[in-house]
Amino acid sequence: MAQIERVGVSLEKELLGAFDKLIAGKGYQSRSEAIRDLIRQQLSSDRLSNEKAEAVAAVVLVYDHHATAIMERLTELQHSHFLKTISSLHIHLDHHDCLEVIVLRGKVGEINRMGDKLVSIKGVKLGRINLLANKGL
Ligand code: NI
Repeated sequence: MAQIERVGVSLEKELLGAFDKLIAGKGYQSRSEAIRDLIRQQLSSDRLSNEKAEAVAAVVLVYDHHATAIMERLTELQHSHFLKTISSLHIHLDHHDCLEVIVLRGKVGEINRMGDKLVSIKGVKLGRINLLANKGL
């Protein structure tokens, strides 16, 4: 188990009140847990600015499966980067649209390049790369 250190923080009353209101709304049981999560978020997003940092990502795509060759292109891209594709999930949203979630692992720069290729495939209507740097947090 990680070693825990206690720290004291001085805050303006108004700022603390606003923080308490915010975390209560989010369902936090304690300030400590909320502060830990905020620190992790900040560290994670700082690491994502480094192209060489290790990360995981969920690339979310919505596309019309009638679009020419889109599914073949998606599969081809994942096979060409197979070491970085951990898993994928396909959901038929309606008659036309499919939702695909592709989970990638690797360096931030590589994930972004692969994610950009996936999002820019002709026929993809919506796409987003959700990156997380989780190492050491
Ligand atoms: Ni489908």
